[in-house]
Amino acid sequence: ESAERENEAKSYKEMISTFPRVKRWSYYEGFWYNSMFLEGLMSAQDHFIPQSTDIFITSCPKTGTTWLKSLTFAICTRTRLTGSATSSLLTKMPHDCVPLLEYDLAHNPIKRDCAVPLVSTHVPYSSLPKSIVSSCCKIIYICRDAKDAFVSLWCFIAELQRSTNVEPVSLEEAFELFCSGISSYGPYWDHVLGYWRASLEYPEKILFLTYEELKKDTAAHVKKLAEFMDCSFTLEEEEEGEVQKIISMCSFEKLSNLEVNKNGKHRADTSIAIKNSVFFRKGEIGDWANNLTPEMGARLDDIMEQKLKGSGLKL
Ligand code: A3P
Repeated sequence: ESAERENEAKSYKEMISTFPRVKRWSYYEGFWYNSMFLEGLMSAQDHFIPQSTDIFITSCPKTGTTWLKSLTFAICTRTRLTGSATSSLLTKMPHDCVPLLEYDLAHNPIKRDCAVPLVSTHVPYSSLPKSIVSSCCKIIYICRDAKDAFVSLWCFIAELQRSTNVEPVSLEEAFELFCSGISSYGPYWDHVLGYWRASLEYPEKILFLTYEELKKDTAAHVKKLAEFMDCSFTLEEEEEGEVQKIISMCSFEKLSNLEVNKNGKHRADTSIAIKNSVFFRKGEIGDWANNLTPEMGARLDDIMEQKLKGSGLKL
């Protein structure tokens, strides 16, 4: 079986080598990918079968995935935590609690904790494996102001450049590329619009959230998430402050100060190893202004406004 897998990986690589390429991104089905994740996506498109209870945590990178994974994980595992049991979130980084479809599950679909019905992906809606789209599995999507998403991405990449031998890209160059739609899993606006339109068409199946609204009223959204995931808080739980406990445990302050997130490493033994702390930068709204000029900000705002025009969505 491993020979078969090797052959398959080789054929994906060969196909990818024929796709349009800019810097380290390859173009596939309308979006730009790092080839390692693209290979995983192609494999997932060919092989992935969801469990009927799976819930997909979806997002473009750097839009609040870590937070959403923590919250959904804490919400759906809370009833297991009786007595002395503590949440895995205190000892494992959130990305190690919820697997990434196009990396963790692409090659080792068996390697998952089936008791936790969460799978994450950055894959755009239009390229999700058909087995997911045609299933009755629920999907939760999070996105964020494009300027903050860009700056968060840029800081993340700059950190990766420091720790690995990723080809360096300057802030100005990355910004130009982002504005022309070229970024990991970009164009950003098409990623957002794909899930937005799907959420309008299938509101029971797809919950669309923004980082900003989650920040503004976390408690209301935690309840909404629980309801959407079919594990609403009971009155008793609410009275016992369960919602608040989950919010505190998943807060930026709490998670970023845990030993595992301060000193641990994500995917430690791979070529894309990165310090867990890099996933916890500032966790603020509007930090773009510390990195982009007002002109750059206005330019990206204009692009987003034009692209989202008529969709009913304002970001
Ligand atoms: P900043 O770079 O603006 O600080 P993702 O999780 O999709 O990679 O997104 C990363 C962004 O979410 C980073 O934003 C990070 O700081 C922020 N973040 C991580 N954990 C968070 C939490 N528990 N609460 C709020 N924001 C969080």
